[in-house]
Amino acid sequence: MGFNYKAIFVDLDGTLLNSQKVISQRNLKCLNEFIDNGIPVVIATGRTLKSVKKVTQGLKIDTPIITLNGNDIRKSIDGYSMMLSYVDNQLKEAIFAMCKNILNGNSDYYIQNILFDTANGFYCLHPNLLDSNEFSTHYDSDVKELDIDNPPAESIVSFLFLLTPDSNREAFLTEQTKFFKPLGAKFCTFNGWPWIELGSPKVNKGTAMQYVCDYLGINMKDVIAFGDGENDVEMLAEAGLGVAMANADLHALKIAKAKALSNDEDGVSVFLEHLKQAGNIQ
Ligand code: G3H
Ligand code: MG
Repeated sequence: MGFNYKAIFVDLDGTLLNSQKVISQRNLKCLNEFIDNGIPVVIATGRTLKSVKKVTQGLKIDTPIITLNGNDIRKSIDGYSMMLSYVDNQLKEAIFAMCKNILNGNSDYYIQNILFDTANGFYCLHPNLLDSNEFSTHYDSDVKELDIDNPPAESIVSFLFLLTPDSNREAFLTEQTKFFKPLGAKFCTFNGWPWIELGSPKVNKGTAMQYVCDYLGINMKDVIAFGDGENDVEMLAEAGLGVAMANADLHALKIAKAKALSNDEDGVSVFLEHLKQAGNIQ
């Protein structure tokens, strides 16, 4: 096999999944052939494990899986959490203070819902606003209702906020700087505005890739990684070859060393097949 990398790290939405949220037969066949040849394929996504399972059926992954943008690294598709990262207490308190401030109307925008994962379950401010089909795609556990005045004491893995569709992005940016920047944290909009995500500021797909590479006994320089979004930037920067999809956002395109066709053109497998045929790296 003329392929000089020891592992393939691949994002899901916008990368391995097409617009129908499906892995094409070509992508599936290509990645399974690499796995059969001893090259690990590591999924690195913002999704939960449950929704990874749903969309990766047919892919013979037997190596760790990076979920929740690196906040939860699973040993395998059926495995336990090898590394679970939590939002620290100071940041957690700041987040709840911000939420109360907004919910009390002291802001130019409004939070429609708050959702977060803990090691013991999933909380939501307004469970009645959740789409139950969508929810069951992503989460195993029943939802617990959040009392914003008495938030749970347990540690939080990652937050999701849903603002109202007409929310003023600039107003939110100003507010979030006040609340989050002193704590080293930064909100992300991986699901698209007005969804906002926040995990441990110390964790991203790049730190998770380092963890998984150590576990696999390989160097990050021997990794080829594919991604399309802001949440892929650290992974694309640290990999030996970071590849952005043609449909990638500006953050990913700027940092990547190479560009693949879009996710709807089987960009991952087309790129990998070219590498194999060329018998060299680029
Ligand atoms: O939270 C999930 C978002 O859709 C991002 O997923 O990291 O697989 O692109 P992704
Ligand atoms: Mg993506």
